[in-house]
Amino acid sequence: MMINRLFFLMFCSLFLPLTTWSFHSGTSLKPDSAYLFAYASLNDGGRAGLHFAWSTDKQIWHAIGPDHGFLRCDYGRWGAQKRMLRPFVYRDANGMWHCVWSVNEEDNVLAHAQSEDLVKWQRQSYTEMIQDGNCLDPIVYKDASGNTTIGWRTEKEGKIQYYKTATSDFKTYSKAAVIDTLPTHREEIYIGNKREIGSINKVAWGEIDALLNAQALAAYKYTLWSEQTKDDHQRFASLDSLKADIHVQTGDPRKISDLLMGVFFEDINYAADGGLYAELVQNRGFEYRPSDKEGKDETWNHQTAWKVQGKGSLHIDSVSPIHPNNKFYAVLDLPSVGAGLQNKGFDGISIKQGATYLCSFFARALNGIKTGVEIRLVGDDGTVYGSTIIKGIAGNWKQYQDKIVANTSAVSATLEVKPLKAGTYAFDLISLFPESTFKNRKNGLRADLAQAIADMRPRFVRFPGGCVAHGDGLENMYRWKNTIGPLEERVPQRNLWGYHQSAGLGYFEYFQFCEDIGAEPLPVVPAAVPCQNSGTGGAGQQGGIPMEDMDEYIQEIFDLIEYANGDKNSIWGKKRAAAGHPEPFNLKYIGIGNEDLITDVFEERFRLIFAAMKKRYPAITVIGTVGPSADGTDYREGWELADALEIPMVDEHYYQSPGWFIHNQDYYDRYDRSKSKVYLGEYAAHLPGRPNNLETALAEALYLTSLERNGDVVHMASYAPLLAKEGHTQWNPDLIYFNNEEVKPTVGYYVQQLYGQHSGDTYFSSDIVLSESKPAVSKRFGVSAVKEEKSGDLILKIVNLLPTEVQTNIDFGDNIVLDEEATKITLKGDPTDLKCQPVEIGEQVSNKFKVAISPYSFTVYRIKTKMGVGS
Ligand code: AHR
Repeated sequence: MMINRLFFLMFCSLFLPLTTWSFHSGTSLKPDSAYLFAYASLNDGGRAGLHFAWSTDKQIWHAIGPDHGFLRCDYGRWGAQKRMLRPFVYRDANGMWHCVWSVNEEDNVLAHAQSEDLVKWQRQSYTEMIQDGNCLDPIVYKDASGNTTIGWRTEKEGKIQYYKTATSDFKTYSKAAVIDTLPTHREEIYIGNKREIGSINKVAWGEIDALLNAQALAAYKYTLWSEQTKDDHQRFASLDSLKADIHVQTGDPRKISDLLMGVFFEDINYAADGGLYAELVQNRGFEYRPSDKEGKDETWNHQTAWKVQGKGSLHIDSVSPIHPNNKFYAVLDLPSVGAGLQNKGFDGISIKQGATYLCSFFARALNGIKTGVEIRLVGDDGTVYGSTIIKGIAGNWKQYQDKIVANTSAVSATLEVKPLKAGTYAFDLISLFPESTFKNRKNGLRADLAQAIADMRPRFVRFPGGCVAHGDGLENMYRWKNTIGPLEERVPQRNLWGYHQSAGLGYFEYFQFCEDIGAEPLPVVPAAVPCQNSGTGGAGQQGGIPMEDMDEYIQEIFDLIEYANGDKNSIWGKKRAAAGHPEPFNLKYIGIGNEDLITDVFEERFRLIFAAMKKRYPAITVIGTVGPSADGTDYREGWELADALEIPMVDEHYYQSPGWFIHNQDYYDRYDRSKSKVYLGEYAAHLPGRPNNLETALAEALYLTSLERNGDVVHMASYAPLLAKEGHTQWNPDLIYFNNEEVKPTVGYYVQQLYGQHSGDTYFSSDIVLSESKPAVSKRFGVSAVKEEKSGDLILKIVNLLPTEVQTNIDFGDNIVLDEEATKITLKGDPTDLKCQPVEIGEQVSNKFKVAISPYSFTVYRIKTKMGVGS
């Protein structure tokens, strides 16, 4: 049955566009109604969510899928914690379907979602039912008075208790009451020889047909989206030559966004500390805590990266810190001279011969012995690569600083801090920075990495994340005020990706970097809810800032706007000025929320923030959020909220296979132009094994042709994540890999760079006629023509994701006067290539010219035009 549907769907796809399929059954004999069994598989602990099977006689059951997940639980931390146990499906008097389930064996919450058709499910809720105890095997029934009632079982230390609660809307519930037993039970059935436990409803056959169709469509899409170049030799076995005629409509210009290409910065993969932030000392403030790694790493504590060299002892104290925000410091007890503290940096300290390094520390001599301190850079064999002596360390906390010039280059030096007298000394914030940072900023950024980002010519920088922005639980939200001001007053914290954030790279540094590279700053603040994948502080995003604290939270967002844009005499503008920037940063955009689940808790808070922002700062564009994927409940309900509130722009996220990008180039063609604009804030093509190779890069390049075409709707887009330190990645693929010595841009980086360096603000549509019209072929050949008004240059991008060279005729028409000499840049190779780089040449062109477009290639032509023509 399933196979027949699939063939039918494939047949449909050849002749009908995806969006207009209709494949409901013909006239075969069908029952009027059947039994529908709802269950979560006993085999996978509920991880694949809600399944259905149907039967006409309750004897022989047919799984839909099998095991297709119609509704997946979103409770708890990423991955294994998201489970649906013992779902119970119930239809109310109005025909609305309700599903209730347990989220695990421990928690006291009842999970609920509702649906009109069993296919599209609405937002989930997780309500705490009792103070203490779990909530197992929930069922829905009518009590003797006809009230909708939910019953469940709790099991604690072998004791079983049954409870019930009444509800009229599945949002509010009466206080849980103890009952003797549950009045109804789940049923046990066999699907083939697989035993499953679930609930049975009798439904019209049409409803089962809809489920079958939904599953078959999903399965069909899955086959398309799983297409990979490794199968191209079969897929395109008969394609030995191909011709294309491209006619660029230069007489028909259309305005598009001039901010399309930007970057997404998140402190993931050691992107900040140990990465873009140029600090060379690891754990400089002794603030690493076992809780950064949830106590799972015994080597991770206040002394990580530090050790005592020679005779002496080190302990960590907190009785008299420099500042309460920076609680911990090191106390070094030296019975004799010669010993000191050593820090190995992040995988060693990389130094360059002749370069100057700024060293600084806070110190106190605790037993009244005034001393000097020698700071040295040394090799593993004790060779000194540079040193200085700082004198006069006395009884109170004071900051000391000096410079060291490296006498050699070394990949892995060690920093030593050696008091020149025996005694007891307190140290904190021991820092070493290259003098030469990006644009020579103090407390600045690693020059080569920052330059690699600048070279992409991003029009905006989104920061500080990603999930880091909304954090792992309420306590871990990224609060911008914690990250500004003197370093010793900033609040370090656990990074949700399993390490530590010093906050040395904070809001001031982000704003300054944006200004330095000519990019719009795009901060994202939490929508008063933490990350939905939180593992701490309760049930993920279902926790939010208490409503009574929302005014204060909204004020925090207002203060951010004042910090960025306020006069230098305003409260927060003064702090910006004190940091060295009296002029405003001219903030225009702010993201509220990061791919949050669109829950009631989220919506209530988002509405408040949005209304307040609109009233107080109407000129700032607020960017809302529509969940973590390209479809599904959060996407749908996020957009419904955006429509209702008329949010100016929303942030979409999707990580998909190359096949998805190939087959979804019409994604934005279908968008209503009168609705919110789109910021595609996170996207990337993912292959099994997660490489960033030519195949993923070309899929992204192809998709970007469609983003340029839809540049009236898609205002901004940023690949994610941006940076990854080798040996410290939590997420692949990324755009730029690096170690302490080298920056290693990926193939995908070059695609982003080519789009960034060759973007336009006017779009010309193109007619493409291929000698082979099969969708599999035409969807792999993409073209985009834009004009950069400032230079007057015409830019033509051609993506060929086919294994065949394409003999191409390009016709720009007669509306434009072109220079004969164009710049041509080509990125090409084998799809599995991880290292290919663009090659630039000069090439003769004219209004009509011929070119052979290489297999698996991305080609950019940049052609000077006579200014004004064609605009
Ligand atoms: O880009 C990596 C992560 O992906 C981001 O932190 C998060 O927003 C998304 O899930």
